[in-house]
Amino acid sequence: MSATFALAGCGSDDGGDDGNNAGDGGSSNGGETGKVGVILPDTESSVRWESADRPALEAAFEEAGVEADIQNAEGDAERMTQIADTMIGDGVTVLAIVNLDSESGAAIQEKAATAGVATIDYDRLTLGGSADYYVSFDNTVVGELQGQGLADCLGEKDANIVYLNGSPTDNNATLFAEGAHSVLDAIDSYKVVGEQAVPDWDNEEAATIFQQLYTAADGKVDGVLAANDGLGGAAIGVLEANGQAGKVPVTGQDATVEGLQNVLAGTQCMTVYKSAKLEAAALAEAAIALATGGEAETTGTTEDAEGGRDVPSILLDPVSITKDNVGDVIADGGQSYADVCSGEYADLCTEAGITE
Ligand code: BGC
Repeated sequence: MSATFALAGCGSDDGGDDGNNAGDGGSSNGGETGKVGVILPDTESSVRWESADRPALEAAFEEAGVEADIQNAEGDAERMTQIADTMIGDGVTVLAIVNLDSESGAAIQEKAATAGVATIDYDRLTLGGSADYYVSFDNTVVGELQGQGLADCLGEKDANIVYLNGSPTDNNATLFAEGAHSVLDAIDSYKVVGEQAVPDWDNEEAATIFQQLYTAADGKVDGVLAANDGLGGAAIGVLEANGQAGKVPVTGQDATVEGLQNVLAGTQCMTVYKSAKLEAAALAEAAIALATGGEAETTGTTEDAEGGRDVPSILLDPVSITKDNVGDVIADGGQSYADVCSGEYADLCTEAGITE
């Protein structure tokens, strides 16, 4: 597992004369980094945004000594636009967004650019956007881990697979599905018997969609490639109602409390852990670099085919989690022992060798 993402380097260039000329004559507010605005997408598509990202972002910016204004658009692109307008009006120097769709995200970034505000795509790439940096995980690898995880749970046999993909407006969802297909399509004994994208990653709609796909397949479903823990949980609910939970492996992502508990209980085959701590630290580093006229250390570029450009990127490594390493998420601080191993899960944690 990749461990540290050094923030240390960026605090060191605050000395007197590092020739930090503002370039295009932008605003000159006395502070070194000004204020960073971050807009999270919603509270429903995954619990991660409020339960993992927000606290990690608060901690990362506090540690870096940078003022941050973190808000949530509550799944409403118009609201995100309004929040962005207000943040730009308030004089943020850097604006980071998790877009709700590329079109609204690109419009926000264009406005920011006009106002001389640098932008960062946090977690989701804005196609046709103008972000200075893209901070995320390698999302194709996320999909590959999901595909491989499902294949490991299914083993070598004939298997009918249903895909519950993420929102069609989320570029990540496209990458997750591509990554998963690249692994599963290569296994001849597997057959796709249903595949659908879930608008806005809506968990309730996911249950309805999965029920329909399940019925259409006459209940002959052997594995479910669900793009995150919320969608996985929806599928597990339907399987449960049909006496199939625990018999049909289901994937997930985000290593949420519920996802990890499902993995321990055996109703979910795996999840993918993406450390919010690392992603938030990478965002803070990129934001500070932009605010101080420096450069963040990138891992490469990501092609934005729609915008015809390569976006400087910091992409982190996702980790596949099965029953064997649920404890690693807890040890890394991704979730707490108290949350995951509460109530009926206490014994399952002990069985899995997870201690407080
Ligand atoms: C994120 C996932 C998340 C999903 C729904 C994706 O863009 O990468 O971690 O589960 O959105 O919010």
